[in-house]
Amino acid sequence: MSREAVLLVSVGASRREAEPWIAALAARLPGLQVAALGDDVDPAAVRYVAAWKPPHGALARLPSLRAIFSLGAGVDHLLADAALPPGVPVARVVDPDLTARMSEWVLLHVLLHHRQAGRYRRQQRESRWADDAVQPAARAVRVGVMGLGVLGLDAAAKLGMVGFDVAGWSRTPKHLPGLASFAGPDGLGPFLARTDILVVLLPLTPDTAGLLDASLFRHLARDGRLGGPVLINAGRGGLQREADILRCLDDGTLLAATLDVFEREPLDRASPLWRHPAVTITPHNAALSDPAAIADLIAGQIEGVERGEALRHVVDRRRGF
Ligand code: NDP
Ligand code: OXD
Repeated sequence: MSREAVLLVSVGASRREAEPWIAALAARLPGLQVAALGDDVDPAAVRYVAAWKPPHGALARLPSLRAIFSLGAGVDHLLADAALPPGVPVARVVDPDLTARMSEWVLLHVLLHHRQAGRYRRQQRESRWADDAVQPAARAVRVGVMGLGVLGLDAAAKLGMVGFDVAGWSRTPKHLPGLASFAGPDGLGPFLARTDILVVLLPLTPDTAGLLDASLFRHLARDGRLGGPVLINAGRGGLQREADILRCLDDGTLLAATLDVFEREPLDRASPLWRHPAVTITPHNAALSDPAAIADLIAGQIEGVERGEALRHVVDRRRGF
């Protein structure tokens, strides 16, 4: 690799946010010059880009670009850029570190709803001892995972290990022991009808945008053991209609919601979601990308490409994920 070749890093608005990434990537790729977007580099020397939400148009005039690496599993932030150079492959994060973090978050929040943590928090605030709530067994609670990709499959398997009755919904059917698989538009109704806790790990694409709306929530199971259906979304905020979530929580269509992602991030301080008693919010950190782990992945990818191997985890730009 020529020392003149540049790996350009774009993370956040300031150079400070990019620095942990630059340090981790430079340590793994001593043969490459690692620079931040905005540094004084020759555009013609930029061979690779590693980016999280780069400014639109910023990657447009890089004539030697061989690959763009998303610093996360999702690529909607890159594909939304109309000036993204055509023909340059976009690879995403597929990494056991990130997958394990997401499954941790999913298990935590499914269990919090299943074991009615909100009820006991309220009782404690009131110094009230009440042990009369029904506590169903995990096998009596139906969890439905929307999106059975790298993250959804791992989360579904781990939920199954805890004992939940798990099903999944994806574009194409999956064949996994212990997992009821539903696929495509025809499979959506039956999948929702048997779901008490809906876990969403879908990518944001033209087909999935706005999918989580009132009409979908109304198809969730009404005969579950938790007293109403629960929504848990860590996919993308663009999948959900927040006004519908609030309305459905207030009219009983939904019992509760845990949201890690929002239509606009950061979530506006004025959003009623912050104060809704049935809503749990985490700040889009269900599964953070760890610079050391992801630098290893990207370095391995770049070394492979430089040896003439095919880039892995390339997304289908037309499909959107
Ligand atoms: P994958 O690409 O591995 O999986 C995507 C899944 O969604 C696949 O099962 C796919 O079906 C399914 N899918 C896509 N479009 C449709 C559709 N129209 N109808 C039904 N199913 C569909 O992605 P990952 O599992 O790695 O990641 C999923 C998403 O999680 C990311 O795109 C990102 O948005 C989000 N994420 C959020 C994080 C956070 O911290 N909140 C962290 C990391 C990721 P099929 O298998 O049939 O193709
Ligand atoms: C991701 C994310 O896509 O963190 O990895 O949202």
